[in-house]
Amino acid sequence: MQSAQKQGLFLTFEGLDGSGKTTQLRLLGEFLDSWNLPWISVRQPGGTSIGDKIRALLLDSKSAGMAPMTELAMMFADRAQVIQEIIAPALAAGKIVVCDRFTDSTEAYQGGGRQLGSEIVLDLHSRLCGNLQPDLTILLLPPIEKSLARARRRNTTTQAQTGRDEGRFEAEQDAFFRRVEAKFREIAHREHFRVESLDGDLHISEVAARIQKRVELLLREKGHLSQGN
Ligand code: TYD
Repeated sequence: MQSAQKQGLFLTFEGLDGSGKTTQLRLLGEFLDSWNLPWISVRQPGGTSIGDKIRALLLDSKSAGMAPMTELAMMFADRAQVIQEIIAPALAAGKIVVCDRFTDSTEAYQGGGRQLGSEIVLDLHSRLCGNLQPDLTILLLPPIEKSLARARRRNTTTQAQTGRDEGRFEAEQDAFFRRVEAKFREIAHREHFRVESLDGDLHISEVAARIQKRVELLLREKGHLSQGN
């Protein structure tokens, strides 16, 4: 029997800078394509034309004097825009939305890293984002030293190649990232049904296989894949 309008599916990826999200997002995209599923991807901050301007302000090293509350407000300004412009319509049309960072990043970076706390982040998420929750969040947690070395290397290369300076967060001290990581772990513990943590020094292919297994289960549960495929 043909089912009624399929529910959209909202997947988010989280982790420290340099945690391997980009590679895993690409591999998940190839996996979804292999099933011919309708999916889109967005990233935060950015992903809309208004969001790209917010991103430039947020990530530029020259924005060094930005107050933590300003930073928090801009992350949510960006998110409110991308939800209205892209995420909500795609979910309403029954699509799969894969998002590179969402409110867990704000809780980890601004709540944890900048020490603004979780409460204000969760409150703003509820007020400004309709408390939209992902169906599944993949949290990548390779050893912190590896992530940071990769992120700092990458930013230097990007800047040399494109002239774009997106290094404001990568320039933070290790203590900042330890607080971010601790908050990610706290979120994973609190939201253990939603968050799948991939912890430790795992090979790319092993991480990809675990993500695919979990996503496939969810796709079957929500009717995006039927018995026959
Ligand atoms: P980006 O280049 O997208 O980093 P990555 O490829 O590692 O995801 O930069 C996003 C930066 O913004 C990253 O350092 C994390 C930070 N960030 C926050 O601090 N709060 C947020 O809510 C989001 C979405 C990102």
